[in-house]
Amino acid sequence: MRKGVYLQTYGCQMNERDSEEVLGMLTAQGYEIAERPEAADVILLNTCSVRAHAEERAFGKMGELQQLKQTNPDLILGIIGCMAKLQREAIFKRLPQVDLIAGPAELYDLPYLLAEVQERKQRQIVARGSRLEALGKSDQPPASSLEPSAKVMAVGRAFRPLDQKPNGDWRRPGVTAFVTIMEGCDKACTYCIVPMTRGAEISRPTEEILDEIAGLAGLGYKEITLLGQNVNSYGKRFPDGSGYRGPLGRLRLLEENPEALLDFPALLRRIDGESSVERLRFTTSHPFDATPRLFEAMRDCGSVCEWLHLPVQSGSNRILRTMRRGYTCEAYLEKIERLRRLIPDISLSTDIIVGFPGETEEDFEQTISLMREVEYDNAFLFKYSPRPGTDAAAWVDDVPREVKEERNQILLTLQDEISLKRHQRLEGQTVEVLIEGPGKHDGQLFGRTRGNHGVILPACPEAAEAGREGPPSLIGETIQVKITKATAHTLFGERCNGSSH
Ligand code: 5AD
Ligand code: SF4
Repeated sequence: MRKGVYLQTYGCQMNERDSEEVLGMLTAQGYEIAERPEAADVILLNTCSVRAHAEERAFGKMGELQQLKQTNPDLILGIIGCMAKLQREAIFKRLPQVDLIAGPAELYDLPYLLAEVQERKQRQIVARGSRLEALGKSDQPPASSLEPSAKVMAVGRAFRPLDQKPNGDWRRPGVTAFVTIMEGCDKACTYCIVPMTRGAEISRPTEEILDEIAGLAGLGYKEITLLGQNVNSYGKRFPDGSGYRGPLGRLRLLEENPEALLDFPALLRRIDGESSVERLRFTTSHPFDATPRLFEAMRDCGSVCEWLHLPVQSGSNRILRTMRRGYTCEAYLEKIERLRRLIPDISLSTDIIVGFPGETEEDFEQTISLMREVEYDNAFLFKYSPRPGTDAAAWVDDVPREVKEERNQILLTLQDEISLKRHQRLEGQTVEVLIEGPGKHDGQLFGRTRGNHGVILPACPEAAEAGREGPPSLIGETIQVKITKATAHTLFGERCNGSSH
């Protein structure tokens, strides 16, 4: 019987994609994907450390899963991803049944690491048998303190060797797919754990990216999201040692030989020119590295959607400085202005942290002003959470919990108001929507505009007949939709008759 692997993912889109790669590598080794943990021989949690809350959820889940070993002693439990790297000691202490810990840079080692755990377990069984034999008391359980440990911890790589991926890939079926273009982060934002968990930046060779995208387009995927902690620094370092090396190296090449510069805008242009993918998105962009060269590439590339996620984090220059973000609000706003001049209907989203150490009422007011000025289509709001080992963790976390909560609520309400306004601009307009799948209710369809706004299409008679999936022919289609109603979180629309892509 084939062994089953159950994998649950926490955290960001990078993690979601990493999980797909893990399932691909393991199914290539003969594993089957298990839908329930009870049916699995290997259970993996791919974890996130960005805030304490994400870690506690994974600790809690693995605490429950450990119970399964009582009925299935051969079960292998693994914690992989960011928390594996950051909390390696705490995991073995708090979760004594966990067998395997592997960090994000060790992702491609997983097939070998699992084989190692299995071999060690086997050796344990053999050692246990021979000890008992020697004792002549085969009915006595062995003293566990004398057993060799079967536990494996792998967290030592500086970065993921992106050019050494074992065979096998898997993808969530659907219309949209993720493609990793770089890994790790070389920045040093004082609150952020990512450089410690994911390691140094490394970019995937362009040809590999192009091949993967061509394969996905061939399989019928319509929209690709390029992923990286900071996609804007693509090309800095490739696995073979080439690359522009840093902001200065990039600047020099730009002046001396721009044709030879393989940076993110150049990659976008190549993908747009050489692949048949309909829609291209990317995330995440660090504002420092989001340059006019990027905005021009976005404008020129027909497949690149009019959407940019550009995390600002705070609207106060004082806080931005202590966060070590490397830009001021003025510089950020200037970039947005420039981008909007080139692509007037660009849709923008952001991340904001409230309650960073030292954030005063005045700093917070400045964040409100910045949000009002930019009018983001969407904003992801976070309460500051000190992360062990980061620079900011050494400072007093002096904004009380209630104040963080209150500021978070104020920004949520403000963003709802702004999102509604942004959405209402689309009412009555006809927009291009890529249908991704069924909506929540029978017969409904769900799709997205190029600006990344979710659109719900009502059930229609033919959809009701077709059942839950709606008319299957429309999933994966790009259609013209008239927006009939807007709320802060969703758009509702109707298909324009006879429209097709
Ligand atoms: N506390 C709260 N939010 C954080 N983020 C990153 N680190 C922290 C932290 N220590 C947020 C940032 C980032 C997003 C992915 O998570 O806004 O852009
Ligand atoms: Fe979480 Fe950041 Fe790691 Fe993604 S990269 S899983 S957000 S800690």
